[in-house]
Amino acid sequence: TERSVQVKLVLLGEAAVGKSSIVLRFVSNEFQPNKEPTIGAAFLTQKCRLEDRVLRYEIWDTAGQERFHSLAPMYYRNAQAAVVVYDVTKASSLEKAKTWVKELQRQANPNIVIALAGNKIDLVTPSASSSSAAAESEDEADDATATPGETATSGEPESLRQVPRDEAEAYAQEAGLLFFETSAKTGEGVVEIFTEIAKKIPID
Ligand code: GTP
Ligand code: MG
Repeated sequence: TERSVQVKLVLLGEAAVGKSSIVLRFVSNEFQPNKEPTIGAAFLTQKCRLEDRVLRYEIWDTAGQERFHSLAPMYYRNAQAAVVVYDVTKASSLEKAKTWVKELQRQANPNIVIALAGNKIDLVTPSASSSSAAAESEDEADDATATPGETATSGEPESLRQVPRDEAEAYAQEAGLLFFETSAKTGEGVVEIFTEIAKKIPID
């Protein structure tokens, strides 16, 4: 029989970046377009299967609204892992994510595994982010008027993106964080956050 190790994980980040949506995708493989803000925090569990072992995540999904900030230490205290989420279409949310990372690095368990997740990547088109590939793709071109935030005249393929992938990834590397771009809406990158964290949790 398999032994399942419990891993306490906390999600932090600005309000409305998609923390609860990421958890809902991971736990139930669902998405709610009008998800209500979290009050205080929510607790969920989900197993995560690696090749050689199974982990049971005990997930604290915190509320991002500023009035709940002071509760956060209760949830990250003793956490073995943290997912700090920002929204790739909102630059200020990365700044908020950086302040959470600093707070974790100062006050949480020194061995905590931290992942940075840039969510809502589905709002940024095309996801390949290669401008030459986009220019060559005719079906992208004739649908340009149907894509929100993308005007036919600008020729800018990523007009909703406010946080360049390179910039966030460089920060993550410097700060010693795992890095992902995700979409709770499509599911892109979501399971990867939890499996990559799991691989970094020591076997005891
Ligand atoms: P708080 O609980 O207030 O801290 O917010 P949160 O970070 O938990 O955000 P939540 O998951 O409630 O999502 C906020 C809104 O963004 C909801 O309307 C979601 O449907 C939407 N949303 C979340 N993730 C995504 C995503 O990947 N893509 C898109 N397009 N919308 C998303
Ligand atoms: Mg929430």
